Amino acid sequence: MPPLPGGTQRCFQAILLLALTMLLLAGILHMDVGLLTPLLGGQAEGPPVINVMFLKTHKTASSTVLNILFRFAETHNLSVALPVGSRFHLGYPWYFLARYVERLEPHGPQQRFNIMCNHLRFNLPEVQKVMPNDTFYFSIIRNPVFQLESSFTYYRDYVPAFRGVESLDAFLASPWTYYNRSASLHNALARNNMWFDLGFDNNAHADDEGYVRARLADVERHFQLVLIAEHFDESMVLLRHLLRWGLDDVVAFRLNSRSAHSVAGVTLEGQARAKRWCALDWRLYQHFNRTFWARVHAELGPRRLRSEVTRLRARRRELMARCLQDGVAKNKSQITDPQLRPFQSGQADILGYNLRQGLDNQTQRMCQRMVMPELQYMAHLYALQFPEKDPKHIPFLH
Ligand SMILES: *[C@@H]1O[C@H](CO)[C@@H](O)[C@H](O)[C@H]1NC(C)=O
Ligand SMILES: *[C@@H]1O[C@H](CO)[C@@H](O)[C@H](O)[C@H]1NC(C)=O
Ligand SMILES: *[C@@H]1O[C@H](CO)[C@@H](O)[C@H](O)[C@H]1NC(C)=O
Ligand SMILES: *[C@@H]1O[C@H](CO)[C@@H](O)[C@H](O)[C@H]1NC(C)=O
Ligand SMILES: *[C@@H]1O[C@H](CO)[C@@H](O)[C@H](O)[C@H]1NC(C)=O
Ligand SMILES: *[C@@H]1O[C@H](CO)[C@@H](O)[C@H](O)[C@H]1NC(C)=O
Repeated sequence: MPPLPGGTQRCFQAILLLALTMLLLAGILHMDVGLLTPLLGGQAEGPPVINVMFLKTHKTASSTVLNILFRFAETHNLSVALPVGSRFHLGYPWYFLARYVERLEPHGPQQRFNIMCNHLRFNLPEVQKVMPNDTFYFSIIRNPVFQLESSFTYYRDYVPAFRGVESLDAFLASPWTYYNRSASLHNALARNNMWFDLGFDNNAHADDEGYVRARLADVERHFQLVLIAEHFDESMVLLRHLLRWGLDDVVAFRLNSRSAHSVAGVTLEGQARAKRWCALDWRLYQHFNRTFWARVHAELGPRRLRSEVTRLRARRRELMARCLQDGVAKNKSQITDPQLRPFQSGQADILGYNLRQGLDNQTQRMCQRMVMPELQYMAHLYALQFPEKDPKHIPFLH
């Protein structure tokens, strides 16, 4: 090729420079803001945290967190500590024991797992037998008034103290008429249930200040993070920051939620009574609501928090529109695929989702993971992890 005349060469160089500049600009503009924030916001650097123990409390939006963890495990090929055999939880309401977890080789050395997130009553020494020593421990709690209301509706036919009581207000007006302390394991869902799940005595005296402070200090020591259900999106932003996960890893649709008509109101008087009846949970909630916000401000600051919450919500809206038929939750009679129908309990009408028709395979798989109810998802992971064992049998599907 003959050498280019000088003018043409300069012109060529200018065009090349311009193209390079444009490419660089386009790159920066399209770049995930999250990639820049480590430089700006001091996000801890390093690989994502993959060893995670989530204490799944009851009626606290924890099914949505479970879905996030199951999805992370599945898409990163991580191992999950799943209930042994045909079981659906890790020994609840009894204290957790390592032998409640399914293992590859029952007689070999104790296997460690990456993720643990099914219902259990916390018992650290036994959990440590199953989880690696660099595990990140976290949990979620909810205002005990509404946690109790949800528990009442959901477990009404199951918890002795709730049976035959016409309403939560009636229960709270004279709880000792219905609540038998001696049957405490079976009634654990009727009083200070989050305190119970953390492994403590849910009938202890809340006015024993030394006791309460010591247990709160235990939770501080054993859990790196306690999230607040009322601030779910802020919770997910903080969780993602501490685990160094991607945005899509913590975007989720609300799972196991009730239809509006199965959420009962609690009178103001009932609310005051619930705080007294569940005084230990109320102390727990107030304490960790305070530390949560202190943590958010220390780790992120208000501006970054706002922008991250906005991004999270925008992404959720986008995925709801892409994945869901009509973009909304459906009640049980509307859900066509039985695999996507959530377990129904008590008088609660538990909502789920239908997927949109005509999704391409990859999108379909991603969407399916986001809407799969927890029992079905657990059975699915169990089958992947233990292909040679009998699959979990989900009675309400058959
Ligand atoms: C997933 O992990 C299992 C065992 O830990 C391994 O046998 C398998 O090859 C992995 N699969 C992928 C796709 O990485
Ligand atoms: C954690 O476990 C690893 C491997 O299991 C071991 O090498 C390490 O010494 C342990 N660290 C502590 C602090 O126990
Ligand atoms: C309370 O529970 C205990 C143990 O289950 C039982 O023996 C006792 O009869 C119960 N008391 C009442 C009043 O139901
Ligand atoms: C939780 O903390 C937030 C922020 O400080 C506060 O606005 C809210 O009232 C607290 N909630 C309860 C129930 O104390
Ligand atoms: C389910 O939703 C449909 C449409 O909103 C409604 O007509 C139907 O009564 C609902 N069914 C139940 C069991 O709530
Ligand atoms: C999508 O999935 C269907 C059914 O599982 C399969 O027949 C088809 O080949 C897949 N398409 C692609 C492009 O992978």
